[in-house]
Amino acid sequence: MERDHVYISELGEHIGSEVTLKGWLSQKRSSGKIRFLVLRDGTGYVQCVAFAKNVSKELFEASDQMSLESSLVLRGTVKAEDRAPGGYEIDLSELTVIGDGGDFPIQPKEHGVEFLFDNRHLYLRSRTPQAVLRVRNEVVQSCRDFFYERDFILIDSPILTPAACEGTTTLFETDYFGQQAFLAQSGQLYLEPACMAFGRVYCFGPTFRAEKSKTRRHLTEFWMIEPEVAFLELDGLVALAEEFVGYIVGRVLDRCAEPLKFLERDTSKLEKIAAPFPRLTYDQAAEILTGDAAQKRMRDEGVPLFQDGNDLGAFDETILTERFELPVVITHWPAKIKSFYMQPAPDDPGKVLALDVLAPEGYGEIIGGSQRIHDPELMERRIKEHGLPLDAFQWYLDTRRHGTVPHSGFGMGIERVVTWISGIAHLREAIPYPRQIHRLYP
Ligand code: 4AD
Ligand code: MG
Repeated sequence: MERDHVYISELGEHIGSEVTLKGWLSQKRSSGKIRFLVLRDGTGYVQCVAFAKNVSKELFEASDQMSLESSLVLRGTVKAEDRAPGGYEIDLSELTVIGDGGDFPIQPKEHGVEFLFDNRHLYLRSRTPQAVLRVRNEVVQSCRDFFYERDFILIDSPILTPAACEGTTTLFETDYFGQQAFLAQSGQLYLEPACMAFGRVYCFGPTFRAEKSKTRRHLTEFWMIEPEVAFLELDGLVALAEEFVGYIVGRVLDRCAEPLKFLERDTSKLEKIAAPFPRLTYDQAAEILTGDAAQKRMRDEGVPLFQDGNDLGAFDETILTERFELPVVITHWPAKIKSFYMQPAPDDPGKVLALDVLAPEGYGEIIGGSQRIHDPELMERRIKEHGLPLDAFQWYLDTRRHGTVPHSGFGMGIERVVTWISGIAHLREAIPYPRQIHRLYP
């Protein structure tokens, strides 16, 4: 890509030379005969200094008047400066305004969360979104690399689908030329046939859940990466999930030191993340959660009390993850709280060979998956028991009718992982344009 300017990230190669920089004014302050302008260009931030004695009177005055977020082309000499953020400073000689910043709504002061997200298109220019979305960029790239390096084949699954995958209560319905269609909740049903063709596959794309809940862990549109492997059973699936999570965390630690530092993430906690992870069965988790200590905390917190047989609530996950420094894997879940396609446990048919991975520090579920039912009759029975329309699943049953094999897979929510690794409080920061029950704008 040809260009006539340098990026802030490249300043180290130009110490002592005069360079052209292009970007936006992110901060300014003045002190007597000096003006400080902080320029942002997407690769970083640099402080540019105008000395009254070195620049024209016009430039000196213009730098006073400029509004924040004005787009600028400037020239100046690069100096190494330990005290400057980033380690370099620009001694300004020329400055041109391309577009005035106008009355930029986001100013260097505290704004409410609703205001920031109503202005998400502009808020993206602020430092926190810059840092978190860089972490997201690395998480996504490392997911793709992990599967590519292990010879998994990418199988893109459709978004418009005729049937539910993860229960009928969170389906977004659309009208598909007079026929009922749903936005995909998961690519899984399409990956299972594909793993019978390619052995090891994955999909990665947006998924949709009409979540009526307003929690910090739920979006209505989120990105999920899902591997599916033929001839893989639950233990192998747990090992795959452990290796995968360890790889992603390692990559972010390696390549996102600056964003993590800006976010004040305690990286010593992330450095511990490596396989194997502690494992609990659902029954062991239930024993902890029905214990006196846990029940008392639920009462104190005013959350519904966990009962054996229930799905885990956010607070239950918090209690469980606090006990470990590593992610915890929970297996052997009650069939009745899980999805129709999960393989029953051989020694306890009331349980299924499912896994959830819960991130530490109270972050909770980041991965959900299972070994799949491979017996055609059992699968057909389960579809009926779950009140799902058998007609819509005939193609899915074909996988069991033609050379069926045990197979397993999971889904990992990208925003859940980015939130955990970044150490932030809410999923809405972990996606460029969040979609939530009360947010469809901008
Ligand atoms: O546990 P879930 O519902 O599992 C599935 O969809 C399986 N079909 C995946 C598979 O086996 N191929 O969702 C998987 C993950 C969760 O662990 C969580 O990380 C994320 O997707 N997730 C959400 N993320 C944000 N907002 C929501 N509303 C989410 N629902 C699930
Ligand atoms: Mg789940």
